Amino acid sequence: MADQNVQSAATPNSPETAADIPDYPFERPSALEPCPHYAKMRKTAPVGQVRMPSGDLAHLVTSYEDVRTVLSDPRFSRNATTRPGAPRLGPAPQNFPSLLNMDAPEHTRVRKLVSREFTARRVNQLRPRIQEHTDRLLDAMEEAGPPTDLISALAFPLPVTIICELLGVPFEDRERFAGWSAAFLATAGLPADQVLASQIALRDYLAGLVAAKRANPGTDLLSALVAIHDTDDGRLSEPELIFLGISMLVAGHETTVNQIGNSVLALLTHPEQLAAVRRAPEHLGRATEEMLRMYPPGDEGLLRIALEDVELAGTLIPAGSAVLPSLGSANRDVCQFADADSFDVSRENNAHLSFGQGAHYCLGSGLARAELEIALGTLLKRFPGLRLAVPEEELPRPSGRLVHGVSELPVAW
Ligand code: HEM
Repeated sequence: MADQNVQSAATPNSPETAADIPDYPFERPSALEPCPHYAKMRKTAPVGQVRMPSGDLAHLVTSYEDVRTVLSDPRFSRNATTRPGAPRLGPAPQNFPSLLNMDAPEHTRVRKLVSREFTARRVNQLRPRIQEHTDRLLDAMEEAGPPTDLISALAFPLPVTIICELLGVPFEDRERFAGWSAAFLATAGLPADQVLASQIALRDYLAGLVAAKRANPGTDLLSALVAIHDTDDGRLSEPELIFLGISMLVAGHETTVNQIGNSVLALLTHPEQLAAVRRAPEHLGRATEEMLRMYPPGDEGLLRIALEDVELAGTLIPAGSAVLPSLGSANRDVCQFADADSFDVSRENNAHLSFGQGAHYCLGSGLARAELEIALGTLLKRFPGLRLAVPEEELPRPSGRLVHGVSELPVAW
């Protein structure tokens, strides 16, 4: 039971009236920087109320320590976000049986089975393919000549090609699922029926693919996951297989694409950091971690539901409430990172939360890191004069999305 000093959701740490409750996600001042409101919240109201795009209220959690707690404490559930009537983030319910939407013990069982096949060895085997595709895409970029949009030349096609190869998805089908995948992560700007239609289309597509792999298995990850299902007598159910495929396709389309774009933009707008990376390419891994800490693409919308009353930073979060841990805010917390707002590619001990924390820690982090290091390292080596071709303020930024970055990044060299 919470003690008497604990503030309930409707007392001092909260806005006075419903009209004072800010809308979430907050407006960002630029493509890369988070809203300054987060810094204020970490100091004065580390757990504060916000209104999600659906209109439902949530407790936004902003400090490093509390964000870690929300992500790793089983009292904050992902599965409860899928229950009928649960507070939700966007226009349509996200109630499918994906890995991310499971709690233990179901989550532990499925994650263990997937991890048996999606190993570091499989990622290492993909490295030469990542390098080949990077080289091919950069050859085409060089041939086309400046200016070139780096998103369509490299940041988008590389992760999409790799996730297609990993899963054994025919690359020709990518046009069809790119739109469905974008609708999956929409928070606003799309009507609920369109989001639902995209979810159904993607589910039907994956169901067909799983059937094709069963009839005609390959060496890809999806075939390996189907084989677990078939030889272990249904230990990965049909919906589990389908939604694992969807999660990876959506993740492969959205997160790494934006992280490559954000990282290149960050380097091109911080010439001293770019020079430091060029001087010490052997420390590219460390620099990549700093770009993940400072400019993560998917730091919003990691919704949880409190299964019981929980006290966090002196605020009582009542059972059934929606809770939103902000990874981007946690990554800028001075209690964890010295000089947290400065972008420093030589930073060590960088325990950022951009891949999450605890049971749901990103399944694709090894693959994403391999793609980022190969893409950035090769790009910087081959284009020593790389620079922005338009002023930073003119870069187009999509809105109403959970994943942020720029939709075009014109560069010259
Ligand atoms: C820079 C790129 C990426 C970033 C920043 C990222 C970030 C994240 C984060 C923050 C989570 C935790 C979500 C939560 O706890 O609510 C997560 C989970 C997940 N990610 Fe990634 N991700 C990236 C790339 C990928 C890729 C390439 C894949 C596919 C292979 C992938 C597959 C997944 C899956 C399946 C989960 C759910 C894991 C579970 O619930 O156990 N991610 N990711």
